[in-house]
Amino acid sequence: MSRARAICIPVLFCLFLLIPGLPLQPSDNAAAQTPTDVQRSGGQNQAGLRPDLRPGYAGDAACASCHRDQSLSYLHTAHHLTSQLPNAESLPGSFTPGSNVLTIVDAASSANHEGLYFTMEKKDDGYYETATGIFTSGTKTRSEKIGIVTGSGVRGQTYLYWRGDELFELPISYWTNGHQWINSPGYRDGSADYSRPILQGCLECHASYIRALTPSLWTNRFDPASFEPGISCESCHGPGVEHIRREVAGSARREGPAILNPAKFSRDRQVDLCSLCHSGLARNELAPAFSYVPGQPLDRYFQQLAAPAAEHPDVHGNQAGLLKRSKCYLSSPGMTCSTCHDEHAPERAAASYSSRCLTCHQWKSCRMSTKLGHKITDNCIDCHMPLEPTAAIASETAGRVVRGIMRNHWIRVYSGTEHP
Ligand code: HEC
Ligand code: HEC
Ligand code: HEC
Ligand code: HEC
Ligand code: HEC
Ligand code: HEC
Ligand code: HEC
Repeated sequence: MSRARAICIPVLFCLFLLIPGLPLQPSDNAAAQTPTDVQRSGGQNQAGLRPDLRPGYAGDAACASCHRDQSLSYLHTAHHLTSQLPNAESLPGSFTPGSNVLTIVDAASSANHEGLYFTMEKKDDGYYETATGIFTSGTKTRSEKIGIVTGSGVRGQTYLYWRGDELFELPISYWTNGHQWINSPGYRDGSADYSRPILQGCLECHASYIRALTPSLWTNRFDPASFEPGISCESCHGPGVEHIRREVAGSARREGPAILNPAKFSRDRQVDLCSLCHSGLARNELAPAFSYVPGQPLDRYFQQLAAPAAEHPDVHGNQAGLLKRSKCYLSSPGMTCSTCHDEHAPERAAASYSSRCLTCHQWKSCRMSTKLGHKITDNCIDCHMPLEPTAAIASETAGRVVRGIMRNHWIRVYSGTEHP
């Protein structure tokens, strides 16, 4: 602990001072941020979407009347919940006084009586993250209101805030394992950094739409009222207004359904759709965010950078890249993500996926069956798709490290699994 403190204090000093043009006084932001913008975006999006911004798109609610089963189960998926507006339901972390403070450096016990802590507060107009830095020269605070919640909370959540029409990441995230507040992944322990801009790519993977205000792929300026939280039906099926018109008019049989069904794409295009968001971060964008249309080749939108050939590549977010290395995938022209996953329902327990392996394999073809007998039939996953920690989702908070743990989608024989 004392070692961690020794490192923290200088860092804390410099990062507070380094944040250019973003002074810590909370009053500074009250002016820059127009609460009405945020409130307006809230009202607008709870109600539905803005057809004026995305012609042809109908919104999830419009599908529910005819596709009831998919629509009901979809509400509970991580896709649907992967970004939300802040409210009591979307924020599992504690905002209750007594359990809403994250102490990074305790001033009372630090050598020079300097410290840093964060308070997560619910106020009348929203939810705030406030940093308090205690310096020998005095106390400084900086407070910002949560504007967007990212992450369903399967693992955790990271929060974004608006400064006018600019979007930034907040320094404190929520980690589900242990029900705790942590430094946002990648943030320096001992800092109160409110300066990290949010680029379009982040929301392209975690939301249905937001309208950028400049053509640059690197912009963090968006129209807050255009934000459509969650991944919608139409993210995977394309615009649905014409489909609904034809179904209502009874002309779909004659004219065609006018909606995309990925099951009818080639295998490569099916996997491209998932790869839009599940091929990792090692890529260059070639086209504006939210311009991808399912069924199109992804290489027109992204240039995928070569993945490291390491035996244990980082498992974060690159399920497509890893699956494509598997002999199962290379030797089965029909295998897609849907071979195992149902996009319209929440994930099931890992063991239950063994039944998917057994659609192609005999359990006895695994040589471990001679040793372990029939009980291997519901445990293919732990040995052939092991859980591995990722460096990409890691957070160091007051000297403690938490790390995301993911399934390795490279299906193969892993050494060490011969002796369970
Ligand atoms: C007025 C009723 C109605 C509405 C509203 C509706 N659909 Fe459909 N949809 C149908 C019918 C009927 C079919 C054909 C039978 C089936 O597959 O269920 C269909 C088929 C589909 C298919 C399969 C198409 C194919 O080529 O196999 C998809 C995908 C689909 N709808 C998605 C959607 C989405 C997404 C929405 C919301 C944007 C939506 N539907 C809204 C009635 C509707
Ligand atoms: C993450 C991508 C994704 C999302 C989001 C998604 N779907 Fe699908 N949907 C698919 C895929 C992939 C298939 C084809 C599955 C297969 O191979 O059978 C499909 C198939 C369908 C079909 C064809 C009939 C069937 O069940 O096979 C309908 C209808 C449909 N989806 C409706 C919806 C509706 C309504 C929503 C929103 C509530 C939705 N989908 C959200 C990926 C998605
Ligand atoms: C628009 C981006 C996007 C697309 C397209 C997309 N996903 Fe995802 N997917 C995500 C994000 C983001 C998460 C993490 C959600 C979370 O927990 O916040 C996720 C999570 C998942 C999960 C884990 C769910 C859980 O409960 O932990 C599965 C499985 C998955 N996606 C499969 C697919 C498949 C299969 C496809 C293609 C049919 C697909 N996804 C297409 C963005 C996408
Ligand atoms: C290329 C697509 C992509 C980009 C860009 C991306 N993510 Fe993710 N993110 C994912 C996927 C996929 C997952 C699910 C875990 C996994 O597969 O690693 C995820 C997981 C998460 C989670 C944990 C959700 C949970 O409960 O499991 C959070 C929080 C998150 N992302 C926030 C962000 C933020 C904030 C940004 C932008 C600064 C961002 N992500 C950029 C695809 C992306
Ligand atoms: C769509 C069919 C299909 C599915 C589903 C499937 N596999 Fe395979 N798998 C194959 C084929 C085909 C091969 C290659 C056989 C060969 O080359 O001899 C293979 C190879 C393998 C190998 C040998 C890999 C190597 O590098 O030598 C293992 C281990 C394996 N599969 C395990 C699994 C497990 C575990 C699952 C479920 C998580 C699974 N498979 C799901 C078709 C499938
Ligand atoms: C052979 C079966 C199989 C195939 C094919 C498959 N997955 Fe998975 N996937 C799994 C299993 C098993 C899990 C772990 C589920 C759990 O832990 O509850 C998983 C978990 C995930 C998760 C949750 C995050 C993690 O890594 O733990 C995501 C995201 C995901 N898969 C995406 C995909 C995508 C995208 C594809 C296609 C490129 C795909 N999967 C293909 C079996 C499969
Ligand atoms: C306890 C860990 C463990 C479990 C459980 C397990 N496997 Fe294996 N599997 C292995 C090991 C280790 C090997 C390599 C054995 C060898 O070569 O002697 C292997 C080999 C294989 C192979 C490759 C055979 C070959 O020679 O190419 C396949 C296919 C396979 N397993 C499928 C499965 C399936 C399907 C299941 C679930 C029914 C399963 N395994 C359960 C550890 C396991």
